[in-house]
Formats: sequence, C-alpha cells, structure tokens
Amino acid sequence: MAVKIMLENVIKTFIIDGETLPTLGGVSLQVGAGEFVSLIGPSGCGKSTIFNIVCGLVRPDSGKVVLDGQPGKTPAEIISYMPQKDLLLPWRTILRNVILAREIQGDNLAKAIAEARQLLPLFGLQGFENSYPAELSGGMRQRVALMRTVLARREVLLLDEPFGALDAITRVNMQQWLLEVWHKFGYAVFFITHDVEEALFLSDRVYVLSPRPARVRLHLEVDLPRPRYRKMVTEERFLKLKNQVMDALEMV
Ligand SMILES: Nc1ncnc2c1ncn2[C@@H]1O[C@H](COP(=O)(O)OP(=O)(O)OP(=O)(O)O)[C@@H](O)[C@H]1O
Ligand SMILES: [Mg+2]
Repeated sequence: MAVKIMLENVIKTFIIDGETLPTLGGVSLQVGAGEFVSLIGPSGCGKSTIFNIVCGLVRPDSGKVVLDGQPGKTPAEIISYMPQKDLLLPWRTILRNVILAREIQGDNLAKAIAEARQLLPLFGLQGFENSYPAELSGGMRQRVALMRTVLARREVLLLDEPFGALDAITRVNMQQWLLEVWHKFGYAVFFITHDVEEALFLSDRVYVLSPRPARVRLHLEVDLPRPRYRKMVTEERFLKLKNQVMDALEMV
C-alpha cells in the first residue's frame, strides 16, 4: 500500500509570550492510501497541531514529513482539510459553500455545481442547496463541511473532530454515514477524535497520543471485520480493544 502521509520524529515547541510550550515530542506515524486512521489523545496534547503540520500551516522544528512518498509533494496536491471549526461562509448558500475548494482550484464552475447537485442526497442536503448555513442544524452543517472536503477531490481527507459538537444519537448516525462516504470515494481518512468508541468503530488503525508533548503511546490495528455494525461495540473483541486504548489514555 502506498504511504500517503509519513511523519518521522516530528518535534514542535511553540513560544507564547516568551514561554516555551513543548507540544510535539517526537511523533512518528503513517497513513496509507485508502486507509481510515484515527488519532486520539487528551485535550491540548497537540492533535490539531499534527494536522496543521501535515497541511503545511505550521512548520515543525525538526523531523520528517513526507507526502505520497515523494519529498517534493505539496499538501495542496493530495490533502483536503476539514478544520476543527467548520468555517462555513455564512453569506454563501450551501451549494456555493460546498464548491469553494473547486472554485479556488480554478476548476470549471458549472461542472463543479453539477457534481455537487448529484451528491446532495448522499450528504442528506437535498432541498437545502439554496439555504444558508445559519438555517441548518449542527449535524447538517457538519455534512456541508464534509461535502466541501470531499468535493475538493484529494486523496487524503483530514477530519479534525468533525462530530465533536453533536449529540450522541446524531453522532452515531454520522459515523455510519461517514463509513459509507469513505467506502464510496476510496479516499484515505485521517481522523481526530476524543471518543475511544468512535475511533475504534471507524478505523483500520488507531494512534493513541500521550499528554503534551505528544508522542505515540500506542499504535493499534483494529482487526474488526467490515462492514461494521452498531452492536459491534458491545462485543468482546471490541471491548478488548477499547480496554487497551483506555489504558493507554490512563482512563480509570
Ligand atoms: N499556532 C500556535 N501558536 C502557539 N501555540 C499553539 C498554536 N497552535 C497550538 N498551540 C498550542 O499547542 C498546544 C496543542 O494544541 P492543539 O490544538 O494541537 O491541541 P489538540 O490536541 O488539538 O487539543 P483539542 O483536543 O482541545 O482540540 C496547546 O497548548 C495550544 O495552545
Ligand atoms: Mg484540536
């Protein structure tokens, strides 16, 4: 399998008001083509910073970041990023929001709009293409943000806690739905979450991070069959994995 993202011993210290804040203490990880990989760790440990480094928004102090196995590859060529805040543009309709990346890429707009219209049902947004973000529920807004990320047509999606603000029922539905989207498009997904169950339910592999400065504490293969189904989370093999992750997070 081609390696799409490779981090080797990445170190980052922020300096705020003269104070040093060691944030990444040597992080090594990989995401392969088509894989679903999750990153889980305590709040403030440096998860979003890892995504910002992968996207080139933050420069590491040292360590290696290689995309697509080629040193010259730029983030914009292979990565589409959905940041922790959904950042929809409130003055644009849903349709105009989801084609934003294509517009920035200088793509044919009519073609992008036609493609977006076709995808509206899959994202549960049919009939809302002319609405504005403020008129939608939290779950719908997250689907708009995801649709925009998917429509950018990059091989790797970085999703930073996309379901963090949703209620438990919506969240579980969105997880199932995300697996369908992932399956349909075949992109790699690199996913940040605080939720152990969510990480295991979705992923092929999970990296558990230590508190800041983050290091990989546990790297776990989630050897559960697909398609995943909801009740899997009650089965013994699932609980065993959950226990391992909770131990690595020092949850009691
Ligand atoms: N651009 C920046 N400049 C200075 N400090 C930063 C910057 N980005 C992040 N930090 C600091 O680095 C630490 C890690 O932040 P980060 O957002 O990566 O954590 P996180 O694991 O994503 O947290 P959460 O789970 O709460 O989203 C925090 O203490 C934060 O204040
Ligand atoms: Mg974060």
